[in-house]
Amino acid sequence: MRTYLLIARVSLLIALHSLLACSSSKQNSKSLSSKHLLSKETIFQMYTASANQYKLLASSLPPNRFPRTFHPNQNRLETSGSDWWCSGFYPGTLLYLYQSTADQKLYEEAMRIMEVLKKEQYNTTTHDLGFMMYCSFGNANQIAPKPEYKDILINSAKSLATRFDPKVRAIRSWDSDKEDYLVIIDNMMNLELLFWATRVTGDSSFYEIATTHANTTIQNHFRPDYSSYHVINYDPTTGAVQQKRTAQGYSNESAWARGQAWGLYGFTVMYRETKDPKYLAQAKGIADFMLHHPNLPQDKIPYWDFNAPNIPNALRDASAAGITSAALLELCQYVPAKTSKEYFAAAETMLQSLSSDTYRYAPGTNGGFLIKHGVGHFPQGTEIDVPLTYADYYFIEALKRYQELSKN
Ligand code: GLY
Repeated sequence: MRTYLLIARVSLLIALHSLLACSSSKQNSKSLSSKHLLSKETIFQMYTASANQYKLLASSLPPNRFPRTFHPNQNRLETSGSDWWCSGFYPGTLLYLYQSTADQKLYEEAMRIMEVLKKEQYNTTTHDLGFMMYCSFGNANQIAPKPEYKDILINSAKSLATRFDPKVRAIRSWDSDKEDYLVIIDNMMNLELLFWATRVTGDSSFYEIATTHANTTIQNHFRPDYSSYHVINYDPTTGAVQQKRTAQGYSNESAWARGQAWGLYGFTVMYRETKDPKYLAQAKGIADFMLHHPNLPQDKIPYWDFNAPNIPNALRDASAAGITSAALLELCQYVPAKTSKEYFAAAETMLQSLSSDTYRYAPGTNGGFLIKHGVGHFPQGTEIDVPLTYADYYFIEALKRYQELSKN
């Protein structure tokens, strides 16, 4: 009964807000479509060049392995197994590019690698199942729905839900010592899968886990200026916060660029899925923190950390720009016209920068990846100033969103 009431309430909210969002989004996309920095032809050329790049990448992959990064100096592709948190981005990008080019080879390659990936639906040792399964099987299910995809996605949501603890009121991100319970801001990206699962199964517990996790994140991950900590360590016995710190950022009190991007994207999705204005306010707060930050360069590709010590000589993280631009191109549809224009323009500048020779590989080079200058884990000294599958994925997603908004 409770489930049905919740579903009815959610459906009503979504219907009401879709109406509002639709009229505001139509209005916004009209006001956004006056002039564009990226022409239709440029976008189309980028899809074609990207499709060729990904065919090159596909041709160099060993069987059952996933691309991770490429080391240009050694001309070496680094791969991973299906359990690496990024395994969904390669098929996800192939599917996006298939949608944009209708190139059947891309679809076939996505299907091939997803056969390898599908066992991860039962993986309960990671919180990254949203990234891994929703970017791949979620996209495949949108293109051509299949009962098998539905089952895989539901099992993935169930596996993810096993990591939720009602005492901490959050999903555990990283497994750790018994006395720790680690939750990272990135975890916001895995909630979209849970909303999908409630819609499809009618089981509201996925929805409740997602909203509870997001509420706990608002409460503990953010500073008053809307920047976020990377890691919150909870006491697993009481749920109290015992530590606020970083793992991949410059320092505990700094704003790690990709973490800000994950938060922005995650709370934009929260608003899309619930229409609760507190999530919109959170997403807006994060966007404003990032876009008005004195250390955001003119080309709008963030330094790997907004507080990196050697700015302006610090490395940029192109992946943070890809994620941020995709998020802003959705968020700009939920806010009033003036803010909408600001977000659209910022995303457009990011896309223009990412499309330039500085950030985009010359066709046929660098192992087939699309975007240069990503920073994976600076403090650990891994994946520094290299291509990354998630930089590619969110770049293409942002390009598709940009194209869609520019159509009207
Ligand atoms: N942990 C995911 C990331 O590196 O952004």
